[in-house]
Amino acid sequence: MSLLTPAHLDGWCLPNRVVLAPTTRARVPGGVPGALQAAYYAQRASAGLVVTEGTWVSERAVGFPDVPGIHTEAQVAGWRRVTDVVHALGGRIVLQLWHTGAVSHPDFLGGRRPAGPSSVDPDEPVHTAAGRRPTGVPRELSVAEIRATVADYGTAARNARRAGFDGVELAANGVYLLAQFLHPRLNRRTDAYGGSPAGRRRLLAEVVEAAAAHGRVGVRLSPWWTGGLFTVDDELRAEYDELVAGLAVDYLHLRGPDAGPDFAAFARYRELFDGPLIVNNGFDRELGDAVIDAGIADAVSYARHFVANPDLVTRFALGQPLAAADPATYYGGGAAGYVEQAAVSQ
Ligand SMILES: Cc1cc2nc3c(=O)[nH]c(=O)nc-3n(C[C@H](O)[C@H](O)[C@H](O)COP(=O)(O)O)c2cc1C
Repeated sequence: MSLLTPAHLDGWCLPNRVVLAPTTRARVPGGVPGALQAAYYAQRASAGLVVTEGTWVSERAVGFPDVPGIHTEAQVAGWRRVTDVVHALGGRIVLQLWHTGAVSHPDFLGGRRPAGPSSVDPDEPVHTAAGRRPTGVPRELSVAEIRATVADYGTAARNARRAGFDGVELAANGVYLLAQFLHPRLNRRTDAYGGSPAGRRRLLAEVVEAAAAHGRVGVRLSPWWTGGLFTVDDELRAEYDELVAGLAVDYLHLRGPDAGPDFAAFARYRELFDGPLIVNNGFDRELGDAVIDAGIADAVSYARHFVANPDLVTRFALGQPLAAADPATYYGGGAAGYVEQAAVSQ
């Protein structure tokens, strides 16, 4: 078995196991995807599965410039152009749902303070239109606001289905809202949404349920995250184990350690999670084939390689060399480095 072997996963038929990882490109001023986004995803539609860039579930979720949303009718119509072209080209596409919670800035929120699980400064940089800004002490969300947030995720999943998506992926990785609730250093609540591992997991569980009412749901986690308050230590990793063992979702998408693919670490999750597993971070063609062949994962997602090689699946199939991504064009700008790639010598 290899990356280019088709996969039949609980009713999904993927022609290959090369997944486009969620990749924020910050080229959607106004938050409504347009012709440029349709072209970008069309170029990558040969992926076994396309996972979109993180997308706001509501106005309250915003915390990065020029990222799209799925909470207005114009956004639903904009995304419909994207899903239509990906489907016309034979692809499958899920929408990654994003909420930045405490890692946002008043500039994005009409001057209001960002809100999170507790009044703990997450101490993370926030990318704003005026440059990088530090976070501050957030407002603690009330239970009523948490319920409204769960409802926002449900509405976003319904909108995703109306826009033609084949499902949604919940971003519970990194430093954003769902990960904030899972983390005992960020979540100091003593009510039903904190106080114990089960309490800290409650928001994610409710969001999964709200989204699952509208179609397929995957969850993305980063159990090896390092950096600042969000570092996942052994104790928290044990909580993640329990979380994963109880997850009833259509797939699990793991962002692996930054040091590179760790097959033994992924294999533990293969045991724990009863469903399709997508792994990520630092894979090349050979490591991707190896992790599939070992039966550890069902698919491998690629972000940076897909940025520079829209035809990544073809390049893998032909054994062609890969172009290198240019970090200068990751976020913002226009077609260059997005739908137009620099010529590479081969
Ligand atoms: C430009 C850029 C944007 C990213 N945006 C997202 C995102 O929106 N959501 C997410 O979960 N991860 C995001 N990531 C992380 C990637 O999905 C992936 O985990 C990381 O790049 C490692 O995979 P790779 O080695 O294939 O690049 C982003 C990464 C990059 C480089």
